[in-house]
Amino acid sequence: MSSENNVDYPRKILDYVEGFLVSKTLFASCELGVYDLLLASGQPLSAAEVARGLGTSEDGMERLLSACVGLQLLTAQAGDDKVLYSNTEMSKMYLTKSSPRSLFHSIQYNSKTIYLCWHYLTDAVREGKNQYEKAFGVSSKDLFEALYRSDEEMVKFMQLMNSIWNICGKDVVTAFDLSPFKTIYDLGGCSGALAKQCTSAYPESTVTIFDLPKVVCTAKEHFMSADEGRVFFHKGDFFKDSLPEADLYILARILHDWTDARSLELLTKVHRSCKPGGGVLLVEALLNEDNSGPLTAQLYSLNMLVQTEGRERKASEYTALLTTAGFANIQVQRTGKIYDAILARK
Ligand SMILES: C[S@@+](CC[C@H](N)C(=O)[O-])C[C@H]1O[C@@H](n2cnc3c(N)ncnc32)[C@H](O)[C@@H]1O
Repeated sequence: MSSENNVDYPRKILDYVEGFLVSKTLFASCELGVYDLLLASGQPLSAAEVARGLGTSEDGMERLLSACVGLQLLTAQAGDDKVLYSNTEMSKMYLTKSSPRSLFHSIQYNSKTIYLCWHYLTDAVREGKNQYEKAFGVSSKDLFEALYRSDEEMVKFMQLMNSIWNICGKDVVTAFDLSPFKTIYDLGGCSGALAKQCTSAYPESTVTIFDLPKVVCTAKEHFMSADEGRVFFHKGDFFKDSLPEADLYILARILHDWTDARSLELLTKVHRSCKPGGGVLLVEALLNEDNSGPLTAQLYSLNMLVQTEGRERKASEYTALLTTAGFANIQVQRTGKIYDAILARK
């Protein structure tokens, strides 16, 4: 019998008990700047050299680097009297701050914010609500007031949102041929990372990011360069303000923040503003119809519980919301990565 199925040796359970040790090792190595220092040095370094460069204890650093080797985030070469450490290709690409595909800010947000909410997961399940009050001492009556409890927190959240679209964005914007849609609004478009993927895939389309006023100001200041020609901005509140007319509305990771009732309210508004023949593209992590997975979406749904008012949903649940809001011709595309796409037409 393979060790996976051996009840005398519960490997899976032992691994899961220690899962947070893995996350924390990754968080600490990023926070301390291990991958950046190894990149900057251009050559393998010993634990003593890394410790000196980052101002840490040598013993602590040696243990951390060794664990990173075990996690295949670093490689180690044994020399005469010391071990030398280097980045792997994966670490260089995703864990260094300067890489265009860096996940550094996402890792920071997981470490400093999400991890703290997950400390109260049991309470969240018991109470059926998010845990901002316990984790950060702020009321979550207005969800985005809580998430954006300071300008600094808002920038960190926007960096978290930004990073994944350099990795999965092209898959979701090309899951359907969106070229017939020339005027696109990205509702809750945040930093604009998905909008950029969209304009690069569809050279004849413009994308306008519709988001809360302070998010739009920050997006322009921190996340946009002068050559983002076909990306525009619109300041507004998608629950309170009227939505401009468009051929296509993108709602990426929006409905998962909200209850069914609020999601329906928003989709109905979108349907009212949408040009005839236009559509809506939902981008979300879809759950399987039989609750069998994918594990990432299942865990994200718990994350929505500890952090938001919403949940991850099945394709059939989004279809029901879209149909009730008036949309038709609903098509679902799984991308094989974290986020999937649903296109519906007016
Ligand atoms: C979970 S984020 C998703 C961001 C982006 N669509 C993405 O996938 O990277 C939710 C976004 O909705 C925006 N948002 C929340 N409430 C809003 C409202 N009432 N009106 C407009 N935008 C809002 C937030 O500022 C944030 O940018």
